[in-house]
Amino acid sequence: MKQVTISLDGVRDKNIMQLKKLNVTLFPVRYNDKYYADALASGDFTKLAYYSDICVGAIACRVEKKETGAVCIYIMTLGVLAPYRGLGIGTKLLNHVIDLCSKQNISEIYLHVQTNNDEAISFYKKFGFEITDTIKNYYSNITPPDCYVVKKSFPQTQAKK
Ligand SMILES: CC(C)(COP(=O)(O)OP(=O)(O)OC[C@H]1O[C@@H](n2cnc3c(N)ncnc32)[C@H](O)[C@@H]1OP(=O)(O)O)[C@@H](O)C(=O)NCCC(=O)NCCS
Repeated sequence: MKQVTISLDGVRDKNIMQLKKLNVTLFPVRYNDKYYADALASGDFTKLAYYSDICVGAIACRVEKKETGAVCIYIMTLGVLAPYRGLGIGTKLLNHVIDLCSKQNISEIYLHVQTNNDEAISFYKKFGFEITDTIKNYYSNITPPDCYVVKKSFPQTQAKK
């Protein structure tokens, strides 16, 4: 069988349309300008995934600063087009972000997932994420309207005295 290359690429003004097209296909939610501005501002934390030269998935993150000064990563979306699922592309996208967090001493990654999205919940649990909260009526246009907060915390390296 022919080997297919799966590669990741950053988002820029020139290719942000790819992310928009994926989101329309993948999610029942319309994302606003702030979503795309946050994705562009996150730098390496937002990536498109290519199956050979076809754009088939993406992870889009927002970099957040807590009151304590600690930085955390919010996964706004992670999705792979249905025909390309089960090939390790979602794993590659999520591992990329987890690796960056470890390298940059980031304290946690979190996201919201609709309570009926069993596939995504079990996917995140495999990477050490845990459900930490339930938010009722988080979504206004989809059923069920509730979401879980799903989180992965990283042990912080202490600064030397
Ligand atoms: C969650 C999601 C991103 C996973 O992407 P993926 O590319 O299928 O992930 P992987 O190929 O790395 O597979 C991960 C696991 O999915 C399961 N899986 C295997 N084949 C699959 C298939 N054909 N379809 C779906 N899931 C499959 C397996 O449990 C696999 O783990 P394993 O390889 O250890 O057996 C993808 O299912 C998706 O886009 N879902 C819709 C969007 C969504 O709900 N996103 C999450 C909310 S932000």
